[in-house]
Amino acid sequence: MNETSGSLQAGRIRGRLGSARIGRRLHFHRRIDSTNDEARRLARRGAPDGTVVVADEQTAGRGRRRRVWRSPAGAGLYLSVVHRSGDASEEMAAGIQLSAGIAVAETVAAAAPLEPSLRWPNDCYCRGRKLAGVLVEGEGGGDGLEFLVSGIGVNVNQSADDFPPELRERAASLRMLAGRPFDREPLLVDLLARLEGWEDVLRRRGIEPVVSRWLELSPGSRGDRVEVVTDDGTVIGRAQGLSARGGLLVRVAGGVEEITVGEVVRMEPTSTSERPC
Ligand code: BTN
Repeated sequence: MNETSGSLQAGRIRGRLGSARIGRRLHFHRRIDSTNDEARRLARRGAPDGTVVVADEQTAGRGRRRRVWRSPAGAGLYLSVVHRSGDASEEMAAGIQLSAGIAVAETVAAAAPLEPSLRWPNDCYCRGRKLAGVLVEGEGGGDGLEFLVSGIGVNVNQSADDFPPELRERAASLRMLAGRPFDREPLLVDLLARLEGWEDVLRRRGIEPVVSRWLELSPGSRGDRVEVVTDDGTVIGRAQGLSARGGLLVRVAGGVEEITVGEVVRMEPTSTSERPC
């Protein structure tokens, strides 16, 4: 374990979470294949809404588009949350995706003066480098989604050597950017509380306030040139914000396209609106 990061301890985390809905059931593992895989296994066996799986190390951490999420012991936050809202709608799934990104960006902003920003659907960037990613996966019964799992990976105390060579210029940890190590436990607790808060907003008031907050944290999503990888190919155009159901709107030659599945892989300001992150 990285000696500066402080250890994660299940009992202490439970104590800090108190009576929160997300984390009332907390499964902690020193080492596991993937917290998303474990959360899905638990959910299939009936684990309730808000169940959290946290690991100090993942041996088969996964990212979107079949990427490996390198998860060394003691360095990052690796966690997954089971969501069962009873609402299997596309809007709820999109809202949870966006809420996870908001929770991560707000947690980072509260921990250090770093001005993080979001890239659709929920990657957290700072100074052009990726600090955190979210992998949301759903499983369904006959009538639609039975549960969703949101898996969150935050680079906290990694050093450049902890990232594979091809990512060293594109990824960073809080420690690399802020120049000091971070205690992961308070970050974890803050992240879960914010996720619960935004999911409550979503359940009570629908996706609209979530979309608004997400856009505040992603200024480039209204005007930057974006490259978006989708299942049907790459879309290049100018981001025009989000649709009412959380899809990314991109102005392309033929009009405005709404993308509901995919990810922004490149984002560049088109004017003088250069931002620090
Ligand atoms: C991405 O940016 O591609 C998403 C990365 C998601 C990584 C997290 S770490 C915790 C959870 N378990 C996994 O195997 N993946 C997610």
